[in-house]
Amino acid sequence: MVMGTTTLLRIEEVHKTFGGIVALDQFTATVNEDEITGLIGPNGAGKTTLFNVITGVLTPDSGSIRFEGKELTSLKSHQICHEGIGRTFQTPKPVRSLTVRENLQVARKYGVGDNEKRETIQSINEVIELFSLEEKQDTITKELQLVEQKFVDVARALVTGPKLILLDEIMAGLNPTEKQEMMSTIKTINTEFGSTFLIIEHDLGIIRSISDRIITIHEGSELTSGSPEKVMENDKVREAYIGK
Ligand SMILES: Nc1ncnc2c1ncn2[C@@H]1O[C@H](COP(=O)(O)OP(=O)(O)OP(=O)(O)O)[C@@H](O)[C@H]1O
Ligand SMILES: [Mg+2]
Repeated sequence: MVMGTTTLLRIEEVHKTFGGIVALDQFTATVNEDEITGLIGPNGAGKTTLFNVITGVLTPDSGSIRFEGKELTSLKSHQICHEGIGRTFQTPKPVRSLTVRENLQVARKYGVGDNEKRETIQSINEVIELFSLEEKQDTITKELQLVEQKFVDVARALVTGPKLILLDEIMAGLNPTEKQEMMSTIKTINTEFGSTFLIIEHDLGIIRSISDRIITIHEGSELTSGSPEKVMENDKVREAYIGK
């Protein structure tokens, strides 16, 4: 989408430790409205922890996370979802015993809050159509293939009308055709539904082609951020990857 200039999410000096492990080390970064931002970094760099502190799954030890200017760090997960942040998990987390349509209904009921009139909200039917899940809408989710479960996970986030969607390794385990399908769906949501994305992805080819901007994280801190071209040429980024 068009390069945005408004900051939607501002993360400032966020620190998160687990016992002696520093998962996020005074991490600072911003996500611009309307853009697709890629988040890359080696295993254990702190990417999933960052998603967890943004979405209230974990409370940071210190630091500030502001979404449209509003501080999130004292809010609970459902309140953060009501503010307009949706996410998926590294392992898909649909309610396995419910059908696809029921999963979307539950997500809608509990995820929208009092933001019913949000511009980005789509009907459940529109979302089912977008993900080509028409024929699977009455299937129990645990019977779906991995790619379909991943689509349901994104769809569950989408029916809450998020302004910002966080995707944690949504392409992992998919074959090249499925990856292309997922990428084009993400682009459609970005351009037509107006959602901003922050995407964790290990496949540098994918992240390079999908991202307007890339943030790199290493040992809990931002290494660098900027255009895909600029970030991929950065010596510190190359070292962190070759060092892996
Ligand atoms: N709940 C937890 N308890 C203890 N340590 C944790 C916990 N969650 C994460 N960590 C540690 O924090 C660090 C960052 O982990 P995190 O899962 O955020 O990395 P990641 O960048 O998502 O890695 P990957 O690419 O492998 O998914 C790692 O050292 C990890 O072992
Ligand atoms: Mg992770």
